[in-house]
Amino acid sequence: MARVSSFLFVLSLLCVLPLCLCDKSYGGKLNPWFYAHSCPKAGEIVRSVVANAVARETRMAASLMRLHFHDCFVQGCDGSLLLDSSGRIVSEKSSNPNSKSARGFEVVDQIKAQLEKECPGTVSCADILTLAARDSSVLTGGPSWMVPLGRRDSRSASLSGSNNNIPAPNNTFQTILSKFNRQGLDVTDLVALSGSHTIGFSRCTSFRQRLYNQSGNGRPDMTLEQSFAANLRQRCPRSGGDQNLSVLDIVSAARFDNSYFKNLIEKMGLLNSDV
Ligand SMILES: *[C@@H]1O[C@H](CO)[C@@H](O)[C@H](O)[C@H]1NC(C)=O
Ligand SMILES: *[C@@H]1O[C@H](CO)[C@@H](O)[C@H](O)[C@H]1NC(C)=O
Ligand SMILES: *[C@@H]1O[C@H](CO)[C@@H](O)[C@H](O)[C@H]1NC(C)=O
Repeated sequence: MARVSSFLFVLSLLCVLPLCLCDKSYGGKLNPWFYAHSCPKAGEIVRSVVANAVARETRMAASLMRLHFHDCFVQGCDGSLLLDSSGRIVSEKSSNPNSKSARGFEVVDQIKAQLEKECPGTVSCADILTLAARDSSVLTGGPSWMVPLGRRDSRSASLSGSNNNIPAPNNTFQTILSKFNRQGLDVTDLVALSGSHTIGFSRCTSFRQRLYNQSGNGRPDMTLEQSFAANLRQRCPRSGGDQNLSVLDIVSAARFDNSYFKNLIEKMGLLNSDV
């Protein structure tokens, strides 16, 4: 009897072992199969809503990717960005990096609504943002990756965290690097994640300084390619047109590729932070 039970014990260990390995390689509790039993269609539902949204408007891919980034830099990837103001919560949506520029919330709402129908109270909004960012990359021709899942949603937001942690378009390199370091990310991560500017748009307010008054002496940024700068000035006048958009990647604005990095070498990056 003792033999049988110790045999069973070893057997049960063997069964559990692969799970333990998965847990380790995916940083504790997160793993790509987190919803395999509780909501097997979760990944497919996210993908199809994102695909529809990006088919309607290509820009949405960049917008969703940015939501994930702006969520993760404040209290970790916990969906805090999605919380509206109420009670003690002051929404991150009103921060400088998000106000008038964070978009795609209605797509997240659509995904959440479909998931609630399929498997109520199961899939976190933090995981939705993470999956939607990956799907946005794939849908615009970029890389795919396995998304470890199982994040839990925050019940609190941090407006000051949003204002202080997220890099601004006119931050110096040192400031941007220290903001990445604060998230446990290094200079390689900084360069790689900046590459997300291979898709999407930026508002005139975010790059006007470069066009007219880069260093406070009334001169433009001389490192900008001149005809590129002239073109930008037409869309982004000295005053007015704050919300006017320009593409972040002048060569292939809707395609996730490496032309963003090539543009930088050609002095055709849009933001100071890109350069
Ligand atoms: C960056 O932009 C903000 C907002 O437009 C401005 O207040 C600040 O002075 C700028 N910082 C630098 C270093 O130019
Ligand atoms: C340029 O910026 C400086 C300080 O940021 C300001 O004092 C100056 O008036 C600006 N010049 C022009 C031409 O806008
Ligand atoms: C915004 O950009 C458009 C071109 O796309 C331009 O016609 C318009 O004049 C710009 N707005 C302002 C206020 O300059």
